[in-house]
Amino acid sequence: MEKMLREIRERVMQNIEEARASQSLEQIRVGILGKKGELTSLLRGMGKLPPEERPKMGQLVNDVRQALEAKLEERAKELQEKEKQARLAAEAIDVTLPGPERGAGSLHPMNIALNKMVEIFVGMGYEVVDGPEVEYDHFNFELLNVPKNHPARDAQDTFYVEDNIVLRSQTSPVQARIMTTRKPPIRIISPGRVYRADEADATHSPVFHQMEGLVIDENITMGDLKGTLDEFARQMFGEGIRTRFRPSFFPFTEPSAEVDLTCANCRGEGCRMCKGTGWIEVLGAGMVNPHVLEMCGIDPNRYSGFAFGMGVERITLLKYNIPNLRYLYENDLRFLTQYR
Ligand code: DAH
Repeated sequence: MEKMLREIRERVMQNIEEARASQSLEQIRVGILGKKGELTSLLRGMGKLPPEERPKMGQLVNDVRQALEAKLEERAKELQEKEKQARLAAEAIDVTLPGPERGAGSLHPMNIALNKMVEIFVGMGYEVVDGPEVEYDHFNFELLNVPKNHPARDAQDTFYVEDNIVLRSQTSPVQARIMTTRKPPIRIISPGRVYRADEADATHSPVFHQMEGLVIDENITMGDLKGTLDEFARQMFGEGIRTRFRPSFFPFTEPSAEVDLTCANCRGEGCRMCKGTGWIEVLGAGMVNPHVLEMCGIDPNRYSGFAFGMGVERITLLKYNIPNLRYLYENDLRFLTQYR
């Protein structure tokens, strides 16, 4: 029996030493010291021993039990500490790891171009004014001298909200609004959205942007208009970009011109963008029709003025050499992030 005890002690000591988790220690404890444990049954079997041997054997069994219990406790502490460390390591947050990348936003190329356009005119002393996109026929057409039967008034071209209310088809109604509410000198620009019943394609969109300009004062001439647009072209596209005025017609200006700029892509040589002409049409302009001045309450005998309207998309495409209007509206980040 003594030998058995020694053998149990050594084997269990070894098992405890080799245990890798608190849970396995518990299994070992139950197996040896539990109600049906090895040592417990050994103790029970002592009844069969001769009485004189019992105390000594009892002592021995107790010693073994104490030794094993002590060992179990010691190992349990070790393992619990280890398990705690492992848990902490697993839960640890590495604050030095890089976070998910959040790209910085950037301006839309059209906003970059528009900001530049505005900056140029503000630098020349213009004030930026706003106007409504849902507009009265009165301002969009009537005060601009657009006759009742003019094709632009057709529902094929203009979106009607009501009989006398439209989605403005140009930024020119802002001219009429300003002229009817202010006294000269007037020097304003007005960028904004306009609407036309056009199919979307490489150069058309039912919603697009224009920037209107208006100057009214004494002695304003066509020379002032040309000088202003020349200076705009130079600042917007660089030295060597010239303007070309072609006679045209708008009901609200007289004389009227369509204005071309030297193609910024080929610098006038002729290329695909300018269809070989070296020029690109970017705006309409003219001297404000005296009849319009009169309708808006400005004395045409004392004052004269010029006006222009340019396409913001047009200028953006030119500035950045973008081949198709749709790129501006599709919001593909691969395209948009190229412009900063
Ligand atoms: N509103 C015209 C258009 O949409 C552009 C324009 C032409 C504006 C001549 C003007 C102007 O102010 O004087 O085509």
